[in-house]
Amino acid sequence: MQQPRPTACLTRRHTDAVERAFAEHFEVGLNIDDIPRTASELSRMMQQCDVLVPTVTDLLDDQLFQHAPFRTKLIASVGVGTNHIDLTAAAREGCVVTNTPDVLTDDTADIAIALILMASRRLGEGERVVRASRWHGFAPTWHLGHTLRGRTLGIVGYGRIGRAVAARARAFGLRVQWVGREAGGSVPADAEMAPSLDTLLATSDIVTLHAPAGADTHHLISADRIARMRPGSILINTARGSLVDERALAEALSEGHLFAAGLDVHEFEPKINAGLMRLENVVLLPHLGSATVETRTAMGMRALENARQWAAGHEPRDRVV
Ligand code: DGY
Repeated sequence: MQQPRPTACLTRRHTDAVERAFAEHFEVGLNIDDIPRTASELSRMMQQCDVLVPTVTDLLDDQLFQHAPFRTKLIASVGVGTNHIDLTAAAREGCVVTNTPDVLTDDTADIAIALILMASRRLGEGERVVRASRWHGFAPTWHLGHTLRGRTLGIVGYGRIGRAVAARARAFGLRVQWVGREAGGSVPADAEMAPSLDTLLATSDIVTLHAPAGADTHHLISADRIARMRPGSILINTARGSLVDERALAEALSEGHLFAAGLDVHEFEPKINAGLMRLENVVLLPHLGSATVETRTAMGMRALENARQWAAGHEPRDRVV
């Protein structure tokens, strides 16, 4: 007799290729309307499915795991960050958790570079001027930004994405320095390691964040640390909003201590800090780091690969807990 197929519930819509591929291997539950699931809906899905396929905005916290036992024994998350999942609670309830590293490295690094260019050359602001019909033509002293060549880029978190940013930055003539714990014993020789985060902040013209979210990195860029940044420098965040004290950032930008900031992620997204919204010298993107057809498909396929390995009784390649 044929074994019934395992069930997989996808909390959001995915590209057609991904949804079709999941349906080839699992009984799938799709979210046709693509409406974010509430905590009680997520908990219900975990009562019904063998595999939950959430994404980085589905909060699977300890409160949710209080509703265990669940039928779900694999959480195959689509995204590299796992800060939306209480990993301790998941492990306690016997849930394996996987993520989708590697496949989004290049696109996320590209967005960091895009923000560096937008912030240093004031591109968003310039486009707003044109669209508001407020452009009066070329003038030698109007709308000046800053040259990248010869400036110092400080990378906080020198993992896959941090290194991909470094590789791109060199092509723009930026000098690269970094801090982070990723290198462990083997310090990569391709860029200078700063002795500490505070030194990096004080000696970089542009600081870009690539560290994971967690209790130890919450407000890593605090008011105090922002004050240590070079006057006239730029802060870029494509990692997680919780890394930055946004209120302090808004103050530093409006007082002119920082020249600009570029943010793809936000502390309470999709809500944006009201102080930042009022400022011209901050670029605000809606969490687009991995938002290409190719990468979102690769992320979904990687989650499927993890789910298939788990369903076949093997260790999934991207197991986090
Ligand atoms: C992730 O994968 O963690 C990103 O934030 C979404 O692409």
